[in-house]
Amino acid sequence: MPQTLAILGGAKLRNRPFTSWPVFGKPEEQRLLGALRSGKWGKLNGPEVAEFEQRFATMHGAKHGIGVVNGTVSLRVALMAAGIKSEDEVIVPPYTFLSTASAVVEANAVPVFADVDLETFNLDPKAVEAAITPRTRVIMPVHMAGQPADMDAIMAIAGRHKLVVIEDAAHAHGALYRQCPAGSIGHLGSFSFQSSKNLTSGEGGIVVTSDDTLAAACRSIHDCGRVAGGLWYEHHVMSGNYRLGEFQGAILNAQLDRLEAQTQTRDRNGQYLAAKLSQLPGIYPQKRPADCTRHSYHLFLFRIDVAAFGAPRQAVLRALEAEGVPVCGGYALPLYRQPLFLNRAFGPYLPNASQTLDYSKVSCPNCEKICREQGAWFEQSLFLGPQTDMDDIANAFEKVYNQRHALARWAKEKSL
Ligand SMILES: Cc1ncc(COP(=O)(O)O)c(C=O)c1O
Repeated sequence: MPQTLAILGGAKLRNRPFTSWPVFGKPEEQRLLGALRSGKWGKLNGPEVAEFEQRFATMHGAKHGIGVVNGTVSLRVALMAAGIKSEDEVIVPPYTFLSTASAVVEANAVPVFADVDLETFNLDPKAVEAAITPRTRVIMPVHMAGQPADMDAIMAIAGRHKLVVIEDAAHAHGALYRQCPAGSIGHLGSFSFQSSKNLTSGEGGIVVTSDDTLAAACRSIHDCGRVAGGLWYEHHVMSGNYRLGEFQGAILNAQLDRLEAQTQTRDRNGQYLAAKLSQLPGIYPQKRPADCTRHSYHLFLFRIDVAAFGAPRQAVLRALEAEGVPVCGGYALPLYRQPLFLNRAFGPYLPNASQTLDYSKVSCPNCEKICREQGAWFEQSLFLGPQTDMDDIANAFEKVYNQRHALARWAKEKSL
């Protein structure tokens, strides 16, 4: 007897919650109280951020780490350290969070969108090559969901055109590309520690690099333009106070102790679920090239082929939710379709380029298909539990697939 979908009044497949996030305990309490009681609450006089910067950089294959207030500022600091000039162009993917492109505008540079690969969701090197102009200065790949972008191809293009590569590794703590940590392959790497991220202090970010000159530039830009050996009130470059605080440093040091084991669990569960879901018609988990030797599964991305599945994406997602599996439809718009870009609402930035820029003419068909019709994801904390949690997700999918005709009728009634 087929099981009725929960959305149609049947029994829910799963009644227990998945692992909640963040995971914390005594070590976080001890570090945080230590920072509080020391009275050293700022990066300038406390030990926590300095310790974290060193540990995080080392763990991610880089010589230097510069802790900053968030993962948007870290991108902007990296761009400024790379010597971006007014109205230079930066190539970015359109399937990413706003910051990848808005940080470019905040550096007074022009985001140029290159399409992603439909199967990997990552920047397509061919599209990058096609987007290069004499004004291009930087390529900014995102390791989407925690799966490293095609860095060999991107570094080769950058080498040929003498471009800087800044990795937006906001999703990719602990991810490996041919055993090389994401964030350490380009000239600079940027991470976020915002609440949802695989390593979090509520808010926070870091720039990593192994280049001494770039590191010195980042340190100066994040600290009011100060330079090593300079006077306290001596300010050399346009900059700000973007320093990470000691309370966040304390939390991050404790969280970092957990990262390796959590990353292994997420990768194991993510691969297991991907293998199971691949057996269902119409479900395509993010394709994982052999170069990805570890996926951080900040998100578990997949596509629903509506024609093969027989019901629209929104109906499938609502049916999964009703079965007790939290799921998200992903970014709803390619970044270039955001009102910010369509209206060039750039405030004081890009006064000249804004006259001629027309983002309504940009077309990245793969990204559009993912946003409009196919894309969806599960969040990272679902992957911290036992393998039976993965079985529940796969079983919920299978149940929805088996009942797709009933679901399609329901969707039609609801005009989905
Ligand atoms: C790909 C990507 N880049 C940058 C950021 C910005 O990080 P933050 O929120 O710490 O500013 C995010 C945050 O969600 C992100 O997903």
